[in-house]
Amino acid sequence: MKLTVIGTGYVGLVAGVGFADVGNDVACVDVDAAKIARLERGEVPIYEPGLDTLITTNVKAGRLTFSTNIAAAIRAAEVVIIAVGTPPQADGSANLSAVFAVAETIGQNMNGFKVVVTKSTVPVGTADRIEEIIARYTDQLFGVASNPEFLKEGAAIHDFMKPDRVVLGSNSARALEVLRELYTPLVRSSESIHTMDARSAELTKYAANAMLATRISFMNDLAVLSEKLGADIEQVRKAVGADPRVGPKFLYPGAGFGGSCFPKDIAALQHIAKGVGHELEVVRAVESVNHRQKRLLFEKLRRHLDGELKGRTVAVWGLAFKPKTDDIRESPALVLIHDLLEAGARVRAHDPVAMDNVRAQLGERITYCQDMYEAAEGADAAVLVTDWQDYRQPDFARLKGLMRAPVLLDGRNIWEPQEPRSFGFWYSAIGRP
Ligand code: UDX
Repeated sequence: MKLTVIGTGYVGLVAGVGFADVGNDVACVDVDAAKIARLERGEVPIYEPGLDTLITTNVKAGRLTFSTNIAAAIRAAEVVIIAVGTPPQADGSANLSAVFAVAETIGQNMNGFKVVVTKSTVPVGTADRIEEIIARYTDQLFGVASNPEFLKEGAAIHDFMKPDRVVLGSNSARALEVLRELYTPLVRSSESIHTMDARSAELTKYAANAMLATRISFMNDLAVLSEKLGADIEQVRKAVGADPRVGPKFLYPGAGFGGSCFPKDIAALQHIAKGVGHELEVVRAVESVNHRQKRLLFEKLRRHLDGELKGRTVAVWGLAFKPKTDDIRESPALVLIHDLLEAGARVRAHDPVAMDNVRAQLGERITYCQDMYEAAEGADAAVLVTDWQDYRQPDFARLKGLMRAPVLLDGRNIWEPQEPRSFGFWYSAIGRP
């Protein structure tokens, strides 16, 4: 099939490359000429394992092209995928101006039946609005569909190429048929494709992310209780997750959830609900627990140091919002660093890939270190915020020798408490005695 993907951000790029890899003819377009020029040179603007090789292979095979000529790309395509940004506004609602601008351009370049797909996460009802906009410009037939994306950063290629499920929502049967065909090479069976109306598909995306965020906040809330009661949340988590009705995934307590999706989507969902006069009470609690959780490590450290943070040095391990990505959006590490700096502490930070992004935001207000050991040099405490593989089996004796005081806070429960304690560390985790 001939496809055009508009927007070469995370979702657009992965989808474009993935569809090309299964044999479609894909043009990835963007208004950002510098970004397109970089992609044409084979430089990938985001860190995602496997993406660079996949781009090179498909460009070489002639199935994948990059361009800034959006109009021409629309005219050439049977399926136009909208994957432009929908940044949050101050009130939590999504800014749809880029989506609607693209819809106008599509309307102006209609030259035959096309399926117009939204992959950006958009408020319920957006497909209907896109339909109205396009119809203002053309008498040609077209179908608008919502096809939310569920990929996780760091595992995006796998998630795209082997999806658990595909959600397709449209009020046009013809559009659904075309998209079903497009996804057939990617799914295990036709039952993995869920077709529905556009509004239900749009809501599914928010519902999925809110459900996962709810599991995390629920466990984070219980972890606080667990610690107060002298119970071990890790034992509780395993036993509760062993019930197949609950399942083991997304029950890990930690430093709070971040990233480009969960925080933004739960805010947007509440805004959508308010718009129709409904208060989503559970989701509101999920959000407030997460805010509290992001400050928990700082509060623990402050308590341990009797409030004396001024002039202290703190090592922070892990800056990305989760491992295997350089994305620092809504990262709990940034909240911690902000609080530490505010309290007059010095921060020595390390992350395997996200340090450049932090430097772009914080400049030289903190010290960037080569590895976890350099970060620990002279530190009064070390705090693990992101559970990178690199941090799992440290040389505790070496760390203790490097630090001014052996104080360790584990924001992801990656060590068994007796391990660091056997080396003489004061050790505190999330929800463990
Ligand atoms: C998420 C959804 O998983 C994905 O389906 C959607 O398309 C986009 O949003 P992503 O933001 O890439 O993906 O990361 P994810 O792996 O879901 O983690 C989100 C946050 O939750 C991270 O900060 C992570 O550390 C945290 N998390 C996750 C926990 O604290 N505990 C868990 O058990 C799982």
